[in-house]
Amino acid sequence: MSVQDNVPKETPIRKQNGRAGWFQASAADCAEIRHRTSAPWRLVLLGAPGVGKGTQADLLNQRLHACHLSTGDLFRAASKQSDCDQTPAMKAALEYMRRGELVPDTTVWEMVRERTDCIRCASGFVLDGFPRTIAQAALLQQLMEHEKLPLTAVVNYELPLEEIVARLSGRRTCEKCKAVYHVTGQPPKVEGVCDRCGGRLFQREDDRPESITVRMAAYDRSTAPLIEFYKTLGLLVPVAATGSPDEICARTITALAARAEVAYLG
Ligand code: AP5
Repeated sequence: MSVQDNVPKETPIRKQNGRAGWFQASAADCAEIRHRTSAPWRLVLLGAPGVGKGTQADLLNQRLHACHLSTGDLFRAASKQSDCDQTPAMKAALEYMRRGELVPDTTVWEMVRERTDCIRCASGFVLDGFPRTIAQAALLQQLMEHEKLPLTAVVNYELPLEEIVARLSGRRTCEKCKAVYHVTGQPPKVEGVCDRCGGRLFQREDDRPESITVRMAAYDRSTAPLIEFYKTLGLLVPVAATGSPDEICARTITALAARAEVAYLG
């Protein structure tokens, strides 16, 4: 068996387990694609804010048909709920997010735990923005051990800071399907309109310069230590995040396939 056998090549039947699918937090969402992949890939994407994790998760998802789990997307979806639908913990979480700080681990973990069905998805998953602290990584590890579902790899995207800031300041996101664009690097065909669904594109509140500075500091303090954590576990796969999104995705698949080949050959 080749490791490439685990990368489905045909067009997916449906795409609901893409970026917006996780909001439904239901096993039913993935039911139609069960049994399609013999050895699903269960990936964590690491990297500084704006390095391109969400963009890569979308592209990887098109190849792997896995669940794309973005905790940032979940918080942004919660921010659209009416005031009375938001719990006090969620209101507090959204304040942290607006300032560019990390949401407390307990709130994040509650949201992830409610979606354990997605973790069990037979097509695997791509975790984007979670875990972000050592405590979250330890909780994820416990959950995976409990479910007897090992992580395949942790991809760490690397890019110089100047390029990251340029990516963040030009980012635009679709309010409906969450597709991500860049005003110069990845512009939509019609300005302000999503190519995929026609939704309105908006600039994220936490992409303001003052929030970007806070997010970078939070990354250095709390998330960067995960690189060592996963290196020690033998799961880390470093990938240069330079070049076009398609080039980076191809580089990622090659690096993952090479890693799987080594593991397969023992
Ligand atoms: P989250 O939404 O996860 O934000 P983030 O990690 O800061 O990452 P971003 O979404 O900003 O960037 P990205 O790496 O996905 O880049 P993208 O693909 O969009 O979290 C937001 C907030 O929620 C956090 O600050 C925190 O408050 C809270 N939160 C979430 N999860 C949490 C957790 N687990 N614990 C605690 N708090 C949590 O790309 C960026 C731009 O670059 C786009 O415009 C894109 O088009 C462009 N681009 C991408 N690739 C390329 C390329 N190759 N070339 C040119 N441009 C490119």
